[in-house]
Amino acid sequence: MLRARIVSTGSYVPEKILTNHDLEKIVDTSDEWIFERTGIRQRRMAAPKQTASDLAYEASKAALDAAGLKPSNLDLIVVATSTPDMLFPSTACILQEKLGAKNAAAFDVNAACSGFVYGLSVAEAYIKSSLAERVLLVGSEVFSKFLDWEDRTTCVLFGDGAGAVVVEPAKGDSGIISTHIYSDGKHQDLIMLPGGGSKYPPSEESLKKKRHYIKMKGNETFKVAVKTLEKLVVDTLKKNNIKPSQLALLIPHQANMRIIKATAKRLGLPMDRVFTNLEKYGNTSAASVPIALDEAVRTQRIKKGDYVMLEAFGGGLTWASALIKW
Ligand code: UT7
Repeated sequence: MLRARIVSTGSYVPEKILTNHDLEKIVDTSDEWIFERTGIRQRRMAAPKQTASDLAYEASKAALDAAGLKPSNLDLIVVATSTPDMLFPSTACILQEKLGAKNAAAFDVNAACSGFVYGLSVAEAYIKSSLAERVLLVGSEVFSKFLDWEDRTTCVLFGDGAGAVVVEPAKGDSGIISTHIYSDGKHQDLIMLPGGGSKYPPSEESLKKKRHYIKMKGNETFKVAVKTLEKLVVDTLKKNNIKPSQLALLIPHQANMRIIKATAKRLGLPMDRVFTNLEKYGNTSAASVPIALDEAVRTQRIKKGDYVMLEAFGGGLTWASALIKW
């Protein structure tokens, strides 16, 4: 059976840094509280005019350069985002135009923080079924534009950024071994951005009620996330007959260091086999896994032949994993 393979990676984060100490001047919080409860020290903020497609463009260029490809070589662009440029057209179409990728079909995937891993399962399916030969998959988010800067329970958590990969048919035995995607709409109220859609179209009332900002029941989400991710990572290895000791690197969604440590502990993985960068970027939602993957590749934390697992959890609820032989 044909396999799909990630042939290159790229990422981009905006220049502006917002530290925990900066946040102390905005809301009633402290560097200690944020770092102890989350592991975050700082995050990046998009410039006022920078959009999800702008960040996606920079990450995509880096991934295309790393693969030695031109935008015209792409036949599909998938963008995972919950903070699109607009409700429509898709951010993927806007990115297609910016890149000049005239031969590519383009659409968005919305699975909140799991979006990139969901998108990877889409890319894998298109490649395996020979419906596409070269897919650009991007996770890009500008959560800073949807944060309530008076709500300390959310505004300290999120950051902006983008990560991209190029996916092609695999040669040899390296490539994506399996992807796993799950959802449970029962918990849709745990993380949401309720305003602006057909349920709460823009209105004075909806603005007044702050429906255009992200809402999260953090502590409830935390408990479900830990339980779900512990099972997810164990199941992903079991389904492929791989032992935790064979896993070279776990690349988790970067939401909370305590969640990441609990997941690693369940696998018996030492933290030097877990990639983390949330200290620098906070939770960048669908961009977090591809930014981490790109940093891991560029710092040679991943070598050819390594088993690598990606996992994510987010609004929906959604959760997803991918096992890769690099
Ligand atoms: O990426 C998608 C998935 N998202 C996640 O996985 C996020 C999951 N949740 C979390 O990461 C954690 O639940 C948080 C970091 C959001 C919160 O940590 P927590 O340990 O669950 O804290 P909590 O919500 O139970 O709040 C504890 C206390 C509360 O005060 P009281 O009621 O005990 O007096 C909060 O009001 O901490 C207070 N608090 C803060 N204090 C200082 C909440 N936010 C802050 C803040 N600074 N920024």
